[in-house]
Amino acid sequence: MSQVRHDFHKLNRLPPYVFSEVDRLKMAARRAGEDIVDLGMGNPDLPTPPHVIEKICEAARDPRNHGYSSSRGLPNLRAAICEWYARRHGVELDPEREAITVMGAKEGLSHFVLMTIGPGDGVLCPDPAYPIHQYSVIIAGGDLRHVPLTPDTDFVANLEVAMSRTWPRPKLLILSFPHNPTTTVVDRAFFERIVAFAREHDLMVIHDFAYAEVCFDGYKPPSILEVPGAKEIAIEFTSLSKSHSMAGWRVGFACGNRDMVYALGRIKSYLDYGMPQAIQIGAIVALRGPQDVVAHNTEEYRLRRDALETPEFLVVVCAFGLLFVSPWLLWEFTNNVKINLTPVGALAVLYSAIGSLLLAYAGWSYVVTRLGAARAGATMHLMPAIGVGLAALFLGETPRWYHFAGIALILTGVGLSTFKASRASSSR
Ligand SMILES: Cc1ncc(COP(=O)(O)O)c(C=O)c1O
Repeated sequence: MSQVRHDFHKLNRLPPYVFSEVDRLKMAARRAGEDIVDLGMGNPDLPTPPHVIEKICEAARDPRNHGYSSSRGLPNLRAAICEWYARRHGVELDPEREAITVMGAKEGLSHFVLMTIGPGDGVLCPDPAYPIHQYSVIIAGGDLRHVPLTPDTDFVANLEVAMSRTWPRPKLLILSFPHNPTTTVVDRAFFERIVAFAREHDLMVIHDFAYAEVCFDGYKPPSILEVPGAKEIAIEFTSLSKSHSMAGWRVGFACGNRDMVYALGRIKSYLDYGMPQAIQIGAIVALRGPQDVVAHNTEEYRLRRDALETPEFLVVVCAFGLLFVSPWLLWEFTNNVKINLTPVGALAVLYSAIGSLLLAYAGWSYVVTRLGAARAGATMHLMPAIGVGLAALFLGETPRWYHFAGIALILTGVGLSTFKASRASSSR
């Protein structure tokens, strides 16, 4: 009986994929009935624009799109990505020789490394890094060198050190900014230093630009290809996964140095026949059609980023604060002040107590989900504050400061709910 050998050399060098592990732990926790927040793989949860889906469906019904496509991508799609570069980054590219489609940045990048790196070839890569940046080198049998990417050190200086300590000299540098997982962003001057460094050391540069469009606060991520001379040494990967919420459709691009684009095209011609043609047609529509989805998605992500920061954080603090204020007021009124509750006052107290509990729940959910319940609870901010305020105003013989406190609470409630409601609707 034959015995299958399981000592696969490459398998032994690859640890379980980090996100698969996180998924496994997540499923185990869910099955155990735990309520968990998934901070694992950033799978875009926003829908692909309807007009893109309609185009994909229409194209899928056309038998002309049922055969093999081209691994380099439809000429029109390559033209569309070059138009995007010209529009967004002022970079002129030749769609025939300087652009190719890939099935997501991850597929393209890993196959490029597989094609260009062999045993003993040195590759510099930031540490920490998105997994495929390091493991594509391991899969290719290359010699991986980690370069620290930390907030308190100069990354280019770290590169110089790594270069001076590596022999034979590294052949490739893999970068990605905006950076996952550290969120580090860079300016164009940074890429000017990188391009100068790479040209000086005859180094190829891969730039994974998966987050090209995910940016906030007036910051616009530069493409490495904006730098004069970059096309001599760099290939850049972009993707519609994040910008157009098309992660599941697997649409990406590689653009830049023509020899590097050619090398990727060569290996892809052996490995695949391109992404399904209907999806390529949908991608053309995504790139050439209305771009408001990009702004919408970015705003949604910004909102989520801001969720734990002020002033939302203040909202949560107020939520918990009101939770304690309401029973305290109740206790004050009924025990210390010894007043008679009017029917309106009794209702107001009840209203404020229930409202406070709901608000506390909304505040807590807000922290936990970072968004969901906070939206649902936008109007709840009004309820307890007004309730407590009414209680203070209508409960008969109360000290004067209770009335001031009541008015202040009502104003706070109105202010917070208006603020929350406007934030929620602006993100829709
Ligand atoms: C830095 C980075 N590169 C690439 C990818 C994957 O992109 P794509 O869907 O285009 O393969 C991700 C996904 O999270 C990422 O964070």
